[in-house]
Amino acid sequence: MTERAQFVTRLGAIAATVGSAVGLGNIWGFPCSAGSNGGGAFLLIYLGCVFLVGIPVILCEFVIGRGTHKNVSGALKQLAPGTKLHWFSYVGICASIMILSFYSVICGWVVEYLIQAISGNLSSQSSDEYEKMFGAFVSNPWRSSLWTLLFLLINFLVLRRGIKKGIEKVANLLMPILFVILIVFCVNALTLDTAKDGLSFLFHPDFSKLTPKVAISAMGQAFFSLSIGLSCILTYASYFRDSDPLFRNATIVALLDTLVALLAGIMIFPVAISFIQGTGDKDSFELVFVTLPNLFNGLPGGGFVWSVLFFLLLFFASLTSTISMSEISISFFQEEHGMSRTKATGVNTIVCMVFGVLCAQSFGVLSDFTIFGKTIFGFFIFLSNDVLLPLGGVFFAWFVGWFIDKKFVDNQLTNFGTSEVSVWRKPLMFCIRYIAPMVIVVIFLYGLGLFDAIL
Ligand code: PFF
Repeated sequence: MTERAQFVTRLGAIAATVGSAVGLGNIWGFPCSAGSNGGGAFLLIYLGCVFLVGIPVILCEFVIGRGTHKNVSGALKQLAPGTKLHWFSYVGICASIMILSFYSVICGWVVEYLIQAISGNLSSQSSDEYEKMFGAFVSNPWRSSLWTLLFLLINFLVLRRGIKKGIEKVANLLMPILFVILIVFCVNALTLDTAKDGLSFLFHPDFSKLTPKVAISAMGQAFFSLSIGLSCILTYASYFRDSDPLFRNATIVALLDTLVALLAGIMIFPVAISFIQGTGDKDSFELVFVTLPNLFNGLPGGGFVWSVLFFLLLFFASLTSTISMSEISISFFQEEHGMSRTKATGVNTIVCMVFGVLCAQSFGVLSDFTIFGKTIFGFFIFLSNDVLLPLGGVFFAWFVGWFIDKKFVDNQLTNFGTSEVSVWRKPLMFCIRYIAPMVIVVIFLYGLGLFDAIL
């Protein structure tokens, strides 16, 4: 039997996990959610969710993944022998396929806009023209589908090369570039006249804006942004080395992910504060593909440089996220069904290509086809983000907090007694056992619309 792959260095493991977490959810989702939910008040709740729910659930997934060095199904079979709990792995696998399908449609748009930016077409138009260009592009039956397929092909090529030569190498290369681009944008944003207004909106909480709905949106955003609840983090942790400190890695991942969301806020709010405050979540596509390219034209140096940099940033961030989503089913196909890496990656890619094209066509020929009143694209977002992720989060918290052997959890958290989490152990276990599941159940019920009547 061949030896199971591992990330070669601790830095590589962190870069890959941060690469998974940092994506469209941070650079685009966070500013939009914060903007339409009161800015600073949203941020405060978001931070609370990251620390009280995010880090505990990341650690649950780390414990299961690193403790077994197996894919999600194999891990559950090992830790809950003789039970049917391993069936739960299908929740994560289905969620990952759905997320990858709708996510790669947006990534396909990013590829189109990156190419348009490089060819200079984004730096010379009027606002009306940007709007028309985006409308014509997404409703074109084939163009956006083709870019979705192309993006999934790039994703395939990275994944096929495996953990060390594919995922770790790409993450080590792209994550530093991503931070540099973000910082260039932030420095520029801070020099604008509107910087003060943008930053005060983000950093001065107005508590009158704090409603249960804001709190619940912040929780959902934290969940998606940290990639938790669908065993993505679990799968990456199964490639960690036994010497990697789990608590420290989890904290670093959560802090860096939050830092990127904040930097994205600092980069976008001064540029587009009036647009973001005036619109709801549903107009967020317009922010990225219409408003920002238009506003970049007014920045020092002109629209060309800024739009190329911006879409490059989105492209890198999304690629490191999609490779992590795919790894859940690839590791499952390889280890539970004995497929080769190439075949497993191929199966995952083909399935997502089919669903990806269906999602892309939700803006074109399938725009009238609905499931529970939503297009296929909208339905996949709803089912994965509002139902399956929270369900997965509660499951992992329950599994680690209540079901598996405490000694096993302790051994993983302390690397068999060789590293310390002693001060944090009690509060951490309290969050895993009580706080995280309770908070997640609230998100879940909200996602199902059960609070609509009272909020
Ligand atoms: N965390 C990613 C983002 O913020 O865009 C999205 C994501 C990646 C969700 C991986 C789920 C996942 F498994």
